[in-house]
Amino acid sequence: MKKGVIELGDVTSHNIKQLRRINEVVFPVVYNDKFYKDILEVGELAKLAFYNDIVVGAVCCREDKMDGQKRLYIMTLGCLAPYRRLGIGSIMLEHILNICQTDGLYDNVYLHVQISNSSAISFYEKFGFKIVETKENYYKKIEPADAYVLQRSFKEGPSGDVFIVKEGGDATTEVTKVIEEGQGCKKMGDIRENGKK
Ligand SMILES: CC(C)(COP(=O)(O)OP(=O)(O)OC[C@H]1O[C@@H](n2cnc3c(N)ncnc32)[C@H](O)[C@@H]1OP(=O)(O)O)[C@@H](O)C(=O)NCCC(=O)NCCS
Repeated sequence: MKKGVIELGDVTSHNIKQLRRINEVVFPVVYNDKFYKDILEVGELAKLAFYNDIVVGAVCCREDKMDGQKRLYIMTLGCLAPYRRLGIGSIMLEHILNICQTDGLYDNVYLHVQISNSSAISFYEKFGFKIVETKENYYKKIEPADAYVLQRSFKEGPSGDVFIVKEGGDATTEVTKVIEEGQGCKKMGDIRENGKK
């Protein structure tokens, strides 16, 4: 397909049905009314993607504060199949990453993805996300039911080393320095079990 104009636009009460339609077509999971009600409150964390003025994709996120960490959770990010590999997903993800970087206080951004979703895994890996956990039977009504947690950390040391806060740890003192060895550190589990790498 010839490259057209890609733009992001706000989600409002006037176009929320278009967001719902995109999500129904793109995702095997059905999102309830509360999901769409809450989306109207998240501001820049939800966007519609337009390709030559046609709605073809959407991203929906929420802030997630847990265990002293400020995290951004990507609930949905998707694009209609005929419009994939045109850079639309990248523009949506870059928008979200820019919010995190401008804010400066996010520890990480993460999402769940079906373990079979190799295209999404390749897409996120291109943006520095890593598989940090596998959640068995995460999905109730779809197969495979297992999900990967993909995460990109923003807590980096001066040399680009990644600092990961230990589970249940204090964010200021209990950090494990993880020196990235190519693809060596793939799972958060590996890091925690082995201690320092
Ligand atoms: C994942 C998804 C959002 C990617 O959107 P997209 O608009 O096609 O992504 P882009 O065109 O910006 O792709 C950027 C890069 O990601 C990688 N990528 C994207 N799709 C890929 C695929 N099917 N296979 C391998 N790499 C892929 C490529 O490196 C690509 O760059 P390139 O086209 O120059 O090679 C899209 O496939 C989608 O909507 N999938 C269904 C919904 C979903 O699974 N969302 C993820 C869970 S929230």
